[in-house]
Parts: sequence; C-alpha cells; structure tokens
Amino acid sequence: MNSSIFFLALILAITLALAIADPDQDLVKAVHQGDIPALKAALQAGANVNKRGSGGQTALMAATLSGQTEVVTYLLDNTSANPRIPEKDGYTPMHGCCFQGRADVCKVLIAHGINPREKHTDGYEPAFRAVWGKTPHHAETLRVMLTMGKVPLDARGPNGESLQDVAMLNPLTKRMLQTHEINTDEL
Ligand SMILES: *[C@@H]1O[C@H](CO)[C@@H](O)[C@H](O)[C@H]1NC(C)=O
Repeated sequence: MNSSIFFLALILAITLALAIADPDQDLVKAVHQGDIPALKAALQAGANVNKRGSGGQTALMAATLSGQTEVVTYLLDNTSANPRIPEKDGYTPMHGCCFQGRADVCKVLIAHGINPREKHTDGYEPAFRAVWGKTPHHAETLRVMLTMGKVPLDARGPNGESLQDVAMLNPLTKRMLQTHEINTDEL
C-alpha cells in the first residue's frame, strides 16, 4: 500500500475511535452489568463517577437501586462517588436502598457513614420507604434500618405518622413492628 494512504487511513481510524469512545457511557454499562474491571477501566479512561446518566441517576444510585452490593462497595471504597447526590426526583442512595428493599446495600451505605435518617424534601426518612414495600426484602431492609441504622421505633413522618401506622401492606413488617421482633444477631 502507498505509505501516505496508509498514514491517512490510520489518522482517520484514530479520529473515529476517539469520537466514538464515551467513557461515561461505558461506566453506565459497566454498572448495569456489575462489571467492576470494566467500571475501573471506564474511570481510568476519564468517566465522571458523579455524573447523572440519561435516567437521572449516578453510578452509585443505579448500583444501589439494582442491588449491586459489590459495585456499591467498590464505588464507595475506591472512587470519589458522592453518596449525597440525589437522582432526578431527589432520592439519595439511602432512600433508594430502602425503596427497593436492598438490605445489603443499606448495610454498606450505613457502614460507610452515610446518615440512615436523611430526609427527602417530602419529609420522610428512608425507613418509611422500606415499610411501604411489600416484599420480605423490604421487611429485612427495615430490620437493618432499625438495628444497624438505629432508627427509633417511634420515628415519625411529616404528618406525625409512625412506622407502625403505615405498615399496612406487608404482614412481615407489621409483625416486626408490633412485636418489636428485631433480631440483631442476624446482622
Ligand atoms: C479498592 O481499594 C482497596 C484498598 O483501599 C484495595 O485493596 C482493593 O483491591 C481495591 N479494589 C479494587 C476492585 O480495585
């Protein structure tokens, strides 16, 4: 091949590769797939760990909502991920783990010093979102919030409602709150 054509083709290929490379997009994909080496590579390639993706969530929030405990741990231990950045509707990761019933993620967040009682602008603290959930995972999440998170049983919502007042939908949660049946040995 003519060497100047080869050279031009090479320049073109490099330009194209640079134009297509999108570390932020790679980061979103890596979180979605729970792929920590890919996540690390995206960050090394310049991805912004605190940027909110198209869904309005940071990497940490996305990993929290989907219950990717290892990714959450990695982001908090090894990157500058900011756990206070809310998603587009103002929910922080602490609210997200309660909302989705991700007990293990709640444990990791609390262990990293994140306030388990930070209020959303709607006046509710995260534990209420675990109480509203209907699954056994939500009951387990509430257990974590009450024990490790030290949320008092008499925590109140913005209208004076207690956790027990709103525990209608989940028999497991209801029983836990009624009997104060909280086994800290399980944590
Ligand atoms: C995260 O950082 C710790 C040291 O702070 C290190 O031991 C660990 O290997 C790192 N994890 C990853 C996945 O790089």
